[in-house]
Amino acid sequence: MSVIFKRVSVRKYEAKPVEEEKVREMIQAGCAAPSAGNQQPWEFYIVRNQSILEKLSKVHQYSGFVKDADLAIVPCYRIEGLWAPQYAHIDMAACTENILLKATELGLGCTWIGIAPEEDRMKTVKEILNLPKNLAPFCLIPTGYPAESRPQENRYEKNRIHLVE
Ligand SMILES: Cc1cc2nc3c(=O)[nH]c(=O)nc-3n(C[C@H](O)[C@H](O)[C@H](O)COP(=O)(O)O)c2cc1C
Repeated sequence: MSVIFKRVSVRKYEAKPVEEEKVREMIQAGCAAPSAGNQQPWEFYIVRNQSILEKLSKVHQYSGFVKDADLAIVPCYRIEGLWAPQYAHIDMAACTENILLKATELGLGCTWIGIAPEEDRMKTVKEILNLPKNLAPFCLIPTGYPAESRPQENRYEKNRIHLVE
């Protein structure tokens, strides 16, 4: 079965470290995403430092488990010099989904934690990571070997499809 139908948000992790090569493969998958005018607005920050993971886990009320992950990937995007800046978040969403799917294929677990477009969350993450002025954080992806599993729920509903004749 395709990883598309296996991916679920994983919020509990084993203590086992994630290999650098697997992290690289996840980033490579993110970079394979489509983007407006092929502008590829992404830059990736990899956080393994426990005290920074703890700070990230306090960014908002739904990010608490970030501190339990082996690492967090923080996809960021350039806010200057883009061909179509109005599409940056959409590009980053496609990139993020690719990362989640590759993690699933590699036997890893992760969750998309929303940061952009919430200004307060973006400001906090930018400060924690000391990001350069021209970069904005898009989301957090805490990642580790999964300590929980479940099948993906079936969300396919035939009545969501509307044939235009
Ligand atoms: C834009 C976005 C923001 C999200 N933010 C959070 C979050 O802050 N914390 C969290 O635990 N899950 C977050 N999620 C994960 C969703 O809760 C999850 O995808 C949804 O419940 C469906 O479950 P599944 O991913 O297991 O299919 C977010 C997902 C998206 C796409």
